[in-house]
Amino acid sequence: MKKVIVFVLFLSLAFIFTGCQGPVNDFGKCTVTCSSFGIMPDGQTAKLFTLTNKNGMTVKITNYGAIVTHIIVPDAKGDMADVALGHDNVNDYIKGHPYFGAIVGRYGNRIAKGKFTLDGKQYTLATNNDANHLHGGEKGFDKVIWDAAAFADDFGAGVRFSYLSKDMEEGYPGNLNCSVRYTLTNNNELKLDYEATTDKATVVNLTHHSYFNLAGQGTGDILSHEIMIDADYFTPVDEGLIPTGIESVKGTPMDFTKSTAIGKRVDDDYQQLIFGKGYDHNWIINNADGSMKLAARVTEPTSGRIMEVYTTEPGIQFYCGNFLDGTNIGKGNKVYKHRYGFCLETQHFPDSPNQKDFPSVVLRPGQLYRHSTIYKFLTK
Ligand code: GLA
Repeated sequence: MKKVIVFVLFLSLAFIFTGCQGPVNDFGKCTVTCSSFGIMPDGQTAKLFTLTNKNGMTVKITNYGAIVTHIIVPDAKGDMADVALGHDNVNDYIKGHPYFGAIVGRYGNRIAKGKFTLDGKQYTLATNNDANHLHGGEKGFDKVIWDAAAFADDFGAGVRFSYLSKDMEEGYPGNLNCSVRYTLTNNNELKLDYEATTDKATVVNLTHHSYFNLAGQGTGDILSHEIMIDADYFTPVDEGLIPTGIESVKGTPMDFTKSTAIGKRVDDDYQQLIFGKGYDHNWIINNADGSMKLAARVTEPTSGRIMEVYTTEPGIQFYCGNFLDGTNIGKGNKVYKHRYGFCLETQHFPDSPNQKDFPSVVLRPGQLYRHSTIYKFLTK
C-alpha cells in the first residue's frame, strides 16, 4: 500500500515538474505519455509527447513549435529506425535549426519582398530570406509554445496543439486562432488536421516541415530514395524562389509522375534546379479538389520503407535538403550533411497573396480554414 502511495505521489510530482497535464491516455494499444523536453531559457518546461500504436510505431512531438522530433517505424524486416531529422532537447532547437519537424505559419513558404495587399491595404512582413519573406517571419509558429491536449479516440492517439497568433504578430492582420491535431493511427499513419479562424481578413498557409530519411536519420544522403509526385504541373521560380507561373513537368527533371531516384537528375544543367540548388519547388497535385488525395510516394530501396503523403491541399513543396551542410548536429550527435533529408510540405502555392491566378489563401471572419495531411508508413 505504502509503495502504491509513493508511486502515485511520484507520478503527480512528475506531472507537476514537467508541466504535463495528466492523466496519460490509453486507447486500445495506442498510448500517449508526456515528459519534459528540457527547460527553456525563460524558465518554462517544454513538453514531449510520445505516441505509440499497436505496431510499436512511435512518434514524439514537443509543444515548442509543435515540432515532430522522432518518427520511429519498422523496415521490411521489422527493424525499427527513426526516420525524422531533429534534436535531442528543446534547447538544441532554440539554438536554431532549419524548421526540422515544425509547424510552419502563419504563411508557410515565401511571400515576395515581404509585402502583400489585402482589401486595398498593404501589409509589410519580415524579409528573412534575402529579399523575401519565408515561413512566417522572424518568430513564426515553429518558435512559439503551443497549448497541448493529449487525446485518444476511435481513430488513434494524439495531441491537439493550439495557438493564438495575435493581430499584427509578424505583420499579419487579425487574431488567428489555430490548431493542429496530430493523430497516430494503428495503420502507421501520422495524420495532421489543421484549423484556423480569424477576426479580420488575413492570409494563412500552414504546413509541416519534417525532414525524412527512410534509411534512418543521419545515416546518409537521400539521393537513392525514389519519389513519385502525382503532378503534371509545377510552379517554376525565379532566383529568389518566387513563382513565375505554372509549367508542365513533361520532358523535364521535374517530372516525377513515374517513381524516380531523387539523385538521378538533381544536378542536371536545368535552370530551375540551378535556382533551387536542387529540388525546392512546389508541385501542383493532379485533380486536387479538397478531398484527400495521394500526392507523393517515396521508397527507400535498402530498408524497403515506403512513405505515402495524402493531402487535401492543392500543392506540395518537395525540398531535398540542399541547404543542409553539416553544421546541424542532430539526435545522437548525427551530422546532417548535404541532402541528408527531404521534406514534403503540403500547402497552398508560394507567394499566393501576390498571385491572382493561384488558389486563394485569404481567410475572412466567419470562415473556417481547414486541411488535412497524412504521412503513411509502409514497407515493400
Ligand atoms: C523550405 C524552403 C527551402 C528552405 C527550407 C528550410 O523548404 O523552400 O528553401 O528554406 O524550407 O531550410
